[in-house]
Amino acid sequence: MRVELSLVCVALMCIFKQTSSCLIISEVNCDNPKLDTQEFVELYYEGTNPTSLDGYTLVFYNGKGDSAYRIIDLSGHHTDQRGFFVVGSSELTPQPAIFLPPNSVQNGPDAIALYGPHWAPVAEGGLVSGVGLLDAVVYTSGKSRDGADGLASVLTPGSVTYVEDEAALEGDESIQRCWQSENLWSFYTGPPTPAWVNHCPPPTPAEAWINEVNLGGSGHVELSVGMATGSFSLVLYDVTTDLISTSLEFIAKEPGIFAIPVNTTNLSGPQSAALALYKGPVSDFPKDGPLSHEQPIDAFVYGDSAHMPSDNLTETLIPGRKPFILTESFLTAGLHVSRCGVAEWTRDPGLFVTRPRSPGKPNDCVWFQSCPLNTTSFTESGRIQPPIHSDVDFLLNEINTDSPGGAEDEEFIELWHPSGFRMSLDFIWLVMINGQTGMVYYELELNGYYTDDDGYFLIGSSKVGPDIRIPLNTIQNGPDAIVLYRSKSPPSKEGQNIPKSGLLDAVVYRTRGSDKKVSALTEALTPGQLPLLEDISALPTDETLSRCGAERLDLNAFRVTSPTPRKQNNCPPKPTIPPPPEGLVINEWSKTSLVNQSQESLFVELIGPPSTPLNGLVLVFFGEDATEWSVPLTGSTGSDGLYLVANDSRADQGLPALGHLGAVLLCFEPSGSGFCGSNSRHLDGLVFSNDPKLQGILQLNTTHFLYTLFSAASLSRCASDGPVLWIASQPTPRLPNHCPSPAFSSSAALCLQPDNNNWQSGSGNCAQEEFAVLLERLCNCGISSLHVKGVNVSCEAGRFYAQGSVLAVSDQQRERISEMLSDNKLSCSAEQERQVHGAGSSVALQVGLVLAALLLFALGAALFVFLYKKRRPADYLSMQLSEQAETPLDL
Ligand SMILES: *[C@@H]1O[C@H](CO)[C@@H](O)[C@H](O)[C@H]1NC(C)=O
Ligand SMILES: *[C@@H]1O[C@H](CO)[C@@H](O)[C@H](O)[C@H]1NC(C)=O
Ligand SMILES: *[C@@H]1O[C@H](CO)[C@@H](O)[C@H](O)[C@H]1NC(C)=O
Ligand SMILES: *[C@@H]1O[C@H](CO)[C@@H](O)[C@H](O)[C@H]1NC(C)=O
Ligand SMILES: *[C@@H]1O[C@H](CO)[C@@H](O)[C@H](O)[C@H]1NC(C)=O
Ligand SMILES: *[C@@H]1O[C@H](CO)[C@@H](O)[C@H](O)[C@H]1NC(C)=O
Ligand SMILES: *[C@@H]1O[C@H](CO)[C@@H](O)[C@H](O)[C@H]1NC(C)=O
Ligand SMILES: *[C@@H]1O[C@H](CO)[C@@H](O)[C@H](O)[C@H]1NC(C)=O
Repeated sequence: MRVELSLVCVALMCIFKQTSSCLIISEVNCDNPKLDTQEFVELYYEGTNPTSLDGYTLVFYNGKGDSAYRIIDLSGHHTDQRGFFVVGSSELTPQPAIFLPPNSVQNGPDAIALYGPHWAPVAEGGLVSGVGLLDAVVYTSGKSRDGADGLASVLTPGSVTYVEDEAALEGDESIQRCWQSENLWSFYTGPPTPAWVNHCPPPTPAEAWINEVNLGGSGHVELSVGMATGSFSLVLYDVTTDLISTSLEFIAKEPGIFAIPVNTTNLSGPQSAALALYKGPVSDFPKDGPLSHEQPIDAFVYGDSAHMPSDNLTETLIPGRKPFILTESFLTAGLHVSRCGVAEWTRDPGLFVTRPRSPGKPNDCVWFQSCPLNTTSFTESGRIQPPIHSDVDFLLNEINTDSPGGAEDEEFIELWHPSGFRMSLDFIWLVMINGQTGMVYYELELNGYYTDDDGYFLIGSSKVGPDIRIPLNTIQNGPDAIVLYRSKSPPSKEGQNIPKSGLLDAVVYRTRGSDKKVSALTEALTPGQLPLLEDISALPTDETLSRCGAERLDLNAFRVTSPTPRKQNNCPPKPTIPPPPEGLVINEWSKTSLVNQSQESLFVELIGPPSTPLNGLVLVFFGEDATEWSVPLTGSTGSDGLYLVANDSRADQGLPALGHLGAVLLCFEPSGSGFCGSNSRHLDGLVFSNDPKLQGILQLNTTHFLYTLFSAASLSRCASDGPVLWIASQPTPRLPNHCPSPAFSSSAALCLQPDNNNWQSGSGNCAQEEFAVLLERLCNCGISSLHVKGVNVSCEAGRFYAQGSVLAVSDQQRERISEMLSDNKLSCSAEQERQVHGAGSSVALQVGLVLAALLLFALGAALFVFLYKKRRPADYLSMQLSEQAETPLDL
């Protein structure tokens, strides 16, 4: 017993543990049942404690607007003896070091970020920043899954937002950091543990995995068994020969932890070896047999700096992961490690750490093992990552199954995320299926990996410099399939058939001379399509199958080209679409249905030269939160030059589901991709929102003078001498727009004296535009400068004089204008009016006149007044209105 204890102790001292000091956000409780009085943010420092927090800042961000809502400078504070530091509600036990008022940590979609001394200070209300960032958690509660994409793109690029399940536990729960493997961490929802270590529950295997490895003296390996039954073989490989040194059989009958003695005496050296757990009887793995082509269920590979396992062994047994590294002096102690990472994947020595033995029991793990991936190293690319749309997922982008010569040393599979940005590959599986048997022959889990900054990820032979190296000649030459899945468990576990659930993309391919009908694969993955042929004689050198179209599960999207690993594929140039003729613009925007104006819907009318094909044209609708929906246009404008976009059988083009809109853009994209990109030309647009973000995106050249949509519910383009104007009117789908017309005019001779008057003749604001604004203030009926283009204006002594015809778009609008002109609150003062001799049409004046007439009891007096007025010259001080007797027109 004493011997064993000292061995463990020596092992603890000797085995290299990769820890550096760091401060992390270790736990967040943002939402308590009922009142939020137990909220907190816990930080943890790995290193010598207590440690000073001088120079550190905690920033709370709101997912709506991506701006800071609380900033806490941690200078002057220290972590506690164990490394914890808590900011939280005053009612929390133990007491936080910094108090937060109740209900001050928002419930998501939000983020909390920790900055170091090199941050660029963010002020309250300031935009999210990645400068000097040390750690961040972007979270949302179950109700609203979206909304934190903007924060995530800056704070945790490529990762998805953590969704806190409010209903996970009865009572309160918090978001806790748990160590996965190497530098990878995940979040876990569990009972809150403020200022205390997180309780990260160890996962149990679905089938079986290696739980503990003890290879000193009388060695044994502990297996943890889940629902597996049947024969398993534990195989020990000698790294000097890559041959089997020992193999043992284990028959699984029930879940539990089982120790299997492993005799290491036959290894050429104890410094390095490889252990692999396979399904199948031990007779499949005879002593001195070669490295098996089968994929192990789990594997543990280790070595020291002088004795590393071969690439063949590592790439075959633990593809993409690193061997466990021992220091030289471990010889005296023997190897002793426990699986402590909470990750559920296998074949990763990074999950193991040196811990005291726990024979037959769950491992004795501690929650903290290594500092998380340093976010600062990848938030400085300068490019702003677009929101991650759930409908955009990984694609198979390029495949080289067969390279010239027998070497097959340039095989690769390139994955690509169409966002074109760094992206997490968590839950992505690459699977290879044999076309003859329909069986999975290779399955690779990509948890914990990220693409490069352009969205590429490469799996292949070492010669192509891949992210994950796989042994030479792994990819079969066909007829076979390479398939991509998004799944929480191995796709091959789905059953005997070709896995279907979580299918993202597939390439079914064949070689020259092989059977064209790979029927089972084709039927399951790419029905109705011929398997691709990587034509080895297509190019003098090497060639690949390259994706040249965007469609998933569509073999027509692929072409045979020269290899371009990690770069844009060498696709034949696409025919570009000729630009549309001048004058193609948005003509009308309406919130009503095409058929029934009292029903809310939406239509957009375009106008251009008659019978103009609309290839390459895209209407982009922007939501108020800058989400966008692209609608590629098809067909061409009608013989009247009009084109209607609406959800209606009479429309030329339908609409997707749209949110609350802030702007619409008409653009031309020569590639025909159906999306507006940096090469697109903006032809026209309308902004209904004051949001500068939207106005920035659209960068419209023409200034649009836009009036609030009043009841008319439609905006029509109307020509003017100056810039084009948008006029509110009744909807006119497939009809000429209703623009201000002399057919509906009211003549006005006005003196106006608004409260905030400073009108002087010659001053800039004594203009028709100002008159239109004044009238619109009075009438709120959609008056623009186009309505008053025939009105003469002048100013004097703070008064505004107008004379001429005010136009309207309809009878209805004319009536509103007339009413307003005859009775407005801004007309020059009452005494002023009384001094005026005129047949004013204001009701008060008319009543006054009638009273005067009654008092005088004399028609002659009235006549005298009339004649008197006729003799006076026309006077701007008089106020007069007469409606022109035009024939009334219907709308
Ligand atoms: C290991 O096997 C060798 C023979 O190969 C044997 O001499 C030795 O006793 C075994 N060790 C243990 C601990 O069983
Ligand atoms: C070690 O090798 C010898 C000779 O090949 C063999 O007889 C013996 O069974 C091996 N021991 C173990 C534990 O595999
Ligand atoms: C890798 O191991 C396999 C046996 O599984 C063997 O056929 C192949 O030649 C080895 N490759 C190298 C480069 O050693
Ligand atoms: C993070 O990375 C940056 C640059 O790679 C480095 O300067 C900094 O010290 C690192 N921070 C931590 C806490 O490891
Ligand atoms: C138009 O829609 C309104 C409200 O949905 C409905 O009451 C009215 O009957 C409809 N009119 C016609 C002509 O369909
Ligand atoms: C148009 O119709 C589609 C399908 O019927 C529907 O999903 C979408 O929400 C509609 N869009 C608008 C803007 O009404
Ligand atoms: C707007 O268009 C005119 C002429 O087409 C051009 O000279 C000007 O630079 C453009 N302005 C902006 C801001 O794009
Ligand atoms: C407006 O002014 C011009 C020149 O000053 C004049 O010719 C015209 O008749 C005026 N129009 C009205 C409606 O008073």
